[in-house]
Amino acid sequence: MAVVRKTRVAILISGRGSNMASLIAAAEASDFPAEIVLVAANRPEAPGLAFAAARGIPTRALDHKAYPSREAFDGALQAELAAAGIDLVCLAGFMRIFSAGFVEAWAGRMINIHPSLLPLFKGTHTHEQALAAGVRLHGCTVHYVVPELDAGPIIAQAAVPVRPGDDADTLAARILVQEHRLYPQALALVAGGQVRLEGERVVFSDDVVPADGALLSL
Ligand code: GRF
Repeated sequence: MAVVRKTRVAILISGRGSNMASLIAAAEASDFPAEIVLVAANRPEAPGLAFAAARGIPTRALDHKAYPSREAFDGALQAELAAAGIDLVCLAGFMRIFSAGFVEAWAGRMINIHPSLLPLFKGTHTHEQALAAGVRLHGCTVHYVVPELDAGPIIAQAAVPVRPGDDADTLAARILVQEHRLYPQALALVAGGQVRLEGERVVFSDDVVPADGALLSL
């Protein structure tokens, strides 16, 4: 049988790392097209680092406060990614903005999960933004990363209803369940070559056909 090389993925985190954990769990399946070969954090105390290390995944803590500039931090991170032979970067609660040069170096090879149905509610406090706007559907988005924050081409989205009585915490919890389902699916599409970025458009292979009413929409 032909040996197909798996896509080598680095996950970047800043905190608890529950999305990271969902990617690690999915990648444990032998037929998953990606392997998680590095987890890096810009905060040495990020709880997700210990979780990844306990599963035998190499981890790196690069404290952004120890670098004199954004470019210096991005350069150190780039060196770690190159040393690990990374093909694709997954941001999972990574709360730091990159220099444009770093983003351009990873164009089409860096994806992020954001807790809203983009292009609505960019930035932080997305659940508060959704409640203030009065939307009846809210959700999460996996997208390619471009220099403009939360503005990259959309790969996949999952929606949840906003229920009467919801607050930011209940909404966040309901959406997090969908994040943990959606991000591994989206990573599988990208790593398996069923999705790619062409210019500013996401292109899907013909076998990617979500059903009407599915939570995964394209
Ligand atoms: C998630 O809601 C993700 O969408 C956002 O930050 C949060 C990270 O949570 N970008 P976790 O660290 O993956 O648990």
